Amino acid sequence: MKDLALHILDILQNSVTAGATLIELEINEIPTKDTYSVKFTDNGKGMDAAMVQQVTDPFFTTRTTRKVGLGLPLLKQNAEQSGGSMHISSTQGNGTMVEAIFGYSHIDRLPAGDIAGTMALTVSSYPSIEFIYTHNTPEGTFIFDTKEIKETLEDVPISNPQVIAFMKDLIRENLEAIKAS
Ligand SMILES: Nc1ncnc2c1ncn2[C@@H]1O[C@H](COP(=O)(O)OP(=O)(O)O)[C@@H](O)[C@H]1O
Ligand SMILES: [Mg+2]
Repeated sequence: MKDLALHILDILQNSVTAGATLIELEINEIPTKDTYSVKFTDNGKGMDAAMVQQVTDPFFTTRTTRKVGLGLPLLKQNAEQSGGSMHISSTQGNGTMVEAIFGYSHIDRLPAGDIAGTMALTVSSYPSIEFIYTHNTPEGTFIFDTKEIKETLEDVPISNPQVIAFMKDLIRENLEAIKAS
């Protein structure tokens, strides 16, 4: 995985596949603690304890089309390569939380990549799922909430190409405003 946005795409997709109706992404940049954390929370079907243990092992996946599921193991590997870690907490029937912590100042911390484009495309691909993306930096907080977007849009679908472009710009400009790194 070359950048964080690609991991985000992958981990959000896991939540979609798990049948989540609400998916939250929270990024916390805390230079004073030297951490850059990325936390995913969903209300999907969850995993049992044995499964949670297995999913960070690259030779495990429930998919039959591809034997090796690499989304979570790669995220873990990238977090660890920057001096950080990854944790999963999940309850069957309740949902899942995946948190990856990267070393903020570490030379091997992944570049952010196109988080704005990834989020805009993902939320437009799943109109019936609500997404809340919160990004905190020392400069401020940005919250992108699809429920609010949809209320503003009224009858215009969130998959409308102009809406996708609008959301992408909105996210990008707000991330710039809080000096997201
Ligand atoms: N948010 C989630 N909710 C429920 N199960 C999950 C979630 N994320 C991952 N899983 C389970 O862990 C497995 C491994 O995920 P991942 O490493 O991304 O590989 P892949 O998605 O290719 O199978 C998935 O196949 C799924 O069974
Ligand atoms: Mg996956």
